[in-house]
Amino acid sequence: MSLRLSRRHRYAIDSVLALLLLSGLAWLGLDRGDPLDDALGTWLRADTRVHAAAGVATVFLVGTLWLVHLRRSWRSQRNRLPGALALAGLALMAVSGYALGYLVDEAGHAWMGRLHWIAGVAGAVSYVWHRVQGPRTRPG
Ligand code: HEM
Ligand code: HEM
Repeated sequence: MSLRLSRRHRYAIDSVLALLLLSGLAWLGLDRGDPLDDALGTWLRADTRVHAAAGVATVFLVGTLWLVHLRRSWRSQRNRLPGALALAGLALMAVSGYALGYLVDEAGHAWMGRLHWIAGVAGAVSYVWHRVQGPRTRPG
């Protein structure tokens, strides 16, 4: 049974994940730890908005994979490790992203932020591995 997704679905996932990663990395590049001057502060605020929107879209898109892609692929026993790592990374990003926005205080912010972006970068590496490895695991 083919586990391929429609081209539109695949593009939507790849593009939203790319935007998520780029906006997250841009945040790391823009942040100086101190109060920012006006121009940088404006960029950082815009970037945070894009990032949070990409985060919401990501959670939605992963939801669209749940019933079919995740279940059938898991049962097929193909591409499991990189898929599970990407999923675990995404779950950690979603939980720590929520915590950054709404739960932790100033003291918790630094380590939660670090946990969040490390999960982001590790999840991105796992996802690329997953995408490259996937077609190679097709039977026949
Ligand atoms: C336990 C979790 C997962 C398993 C076992 C799994 C399994 C697979 C397999 C077997 C393929 C290759 C299909 C083929 O080319 O014949 C694949 C492709 C793919 N997976 Fe996953 N996957 C998992 C999680 C995920 C997650 C979390 C995402 C997205 C965030 C994802 C996105 C994709 C995409 C976009 C493709 C390419 C599909 C295509 O070429 O049409 N997968 N996966
Ligand atoms: C499901 C995936 C993700 C979700 C839902 C998400 C969500 C969020 C949210 C809500 C915030 C807090 C924004 C605020 O301060 O109000 C945030 C901050 C941040 N995110 Fe993400 N994010 C995700 C993935 C990523 C990825 C892949 C990266 C890549 C590096 C990343 C890097 C960052 C950084 C650097 C911050 C700022 C951390 C800080 O305040 O110290 N995120 N994210």
